[in-house]
Amino acid sequence: MTVTIVGSQLGDEGKGALVDLWGGDADVVARYQGGDNAGHTVVEGGDEYKLSLVPSGAVRDKVGVLGNGCVVNPKTLFSEIDELRERGLDPDVRVARRAHVIMPYHRVLDGIEEEAKSDSDLDAGTTGRGIGPTYEDKAGRRGIRVGDLLDPDVLRDRLEYVVPQKRALAEDVFGIDAGEAFDVDAVFEEYREIGERLKTESMTVNAGEFLGSFLDDGDDVLFEGAQGTSIDIDHGIYPYVTSSNPTAGGAATGTGIGPTVVGRGEVVGIVKAYLSRVGTGPLPTELTGDDEDLADEIREKGGEFGTVTGRPRRIGWLDVPMLRHASRTNGFTGIAVNHVDVLAGLDEVKVGHSYDLDGEELFTMPATTERWGRCEPNLREFEPWGEVDWTAVAADGYDAIPENARAYLDYISTEVDAPIYAVGVGPDREETIELANPFDE
Ligand code: GDP
Ligand code: IMO
Ligand code: MG
Repeated sequence: MTVTIVGSQLGDEGKGALVDLWGGDADVVARYQGGDNAGHTVVEGGDEYKLSLVPSGAVRDKVGVLGNGCVVNPKTLFSEIDELRERGLDPDVRVARRAHVIMPYHRVLDGIEEEAKSDSDLDAGTTGRGIGPTYEDKAGRRGIRVGDLLDPDVLRDRLEYVVPQKRALAEDVFGIDAGEAFDVDAVFEEYREIGERLKTESMTVNAGEFLGSFLDDGDDVLFEGAQGTSIDIDHGIYPYVTSSNPTAGGAATGTGIGPTVVGRGEVVGIVKAYLSRVGTGPLPTELTGDDEDLADEIREKGGEFGTVTGRPRRIGWLDVPMLRHASRTNGFTGIAVNHVDVLAGLDEVKVGHSYDLDGEELFTMPATTERWGRCEPNLREFEPWGEVDWTAVAADGYDAIPENARAYLDYISTEVDAPIYAVGVGPDREETIELANPFDE
């Protein structure tokens, strides 16, 4: 069967922790979208692993697959694999031949397009990894796929078509001095060699066939979503979004495993007990103004600084209309709620239960970001819970969670109409309380 892990909010919900927990029961862990814009943290016995591209199952020695829906920067991939090897792991990562490659010019264009957009407040605060420009070329049918790196003649042909266009864009439209990143010969040499390494290490696969053969044998596959529902290119707060589909439908299109198979499995939404956001755009429940001290407290306690970029994350109260939107879009069969420990000890705990927009009460997100930005949250207050020994709570199980925190969890579960499968009370694998294992459901 399959279990799909999806971010319910704006990314960084703690997906890595749950992929690590349940990845232990899977045979393969596959990413289906995004690239090295992701930053997934796994903490095992105090050892922290920050993974951008290698699927989080690597920490459990599982086969990791980067599906066709991913955009792959092979240089990041190799350096991450090399680093993990230095730490004593032996990650077995396979890359879809249909996945698109992030090329050096994509990263340069990401930076200059963001800068150009910032004059009109349209910059998304990207991670600068070349994600958007690579997906653009995929949709424009001028991208370079992993399979193209394996055949120097094909690679050369593709580059000769696309690179001069990119050079003209950089120089004539954006007025920058295009360097080696836009030089056909230099790019060809470097990426031909990358193709050689991929070939030598037998890293490329036909993802659908590869994953399908595991499923045919009765094995279990975990799909690791990156980013989150509200930064999905279709269902998120466009244009402040990423360029792929983190939502559950992406697990099918991004791997070559049919939606009926994904749908017969479990789809688990990962929820952070409050909101964090790296990037720009509106955020109705953001803690600003008089609440800035509270935001600072949560940011420090929760370590809310970007895994990839180190940027301080913006902080807000839980946005419940956003969760209802996520539950419908993804069809959650269950949820995991993380960071319950971070809210402990606060004087007040609130959620945005609904929005007020032009005198109307809304229970889910409007379709345009302009309207969303005008929403006033109707806040609902919860009884706060105090600090406890969370490691001891994790060891004792769900009933040991403070009663007020359990009331908060019950409320979330009711609003998204999905049972709670796990609760995170700290970053370590041992600090996730499991109520149900989706592979047993
Ligand atoms: P992801 O991108 O969704 O995998 O999440 P990130 O790794 O970017 O950010 C989540 C951060 O919170 C990481 O530093 C995790 O180690 C940490 N984390 C995950 N779950 C919990 C939790 O329940 N409590 C606390 N305090 N930290 C958590
Ligand atoms: P994980 O998997 C949070 C945000 C960026 C920016 C927008 C577009 O760790 O949850 P991009 O570089 O993708 O073109 O940036 O999306 N963003 C994320 N925010 N978590 C992530 O990944 C993110 N990946 C991209 O900040 O607003
Ligand atoms: Mg992250």
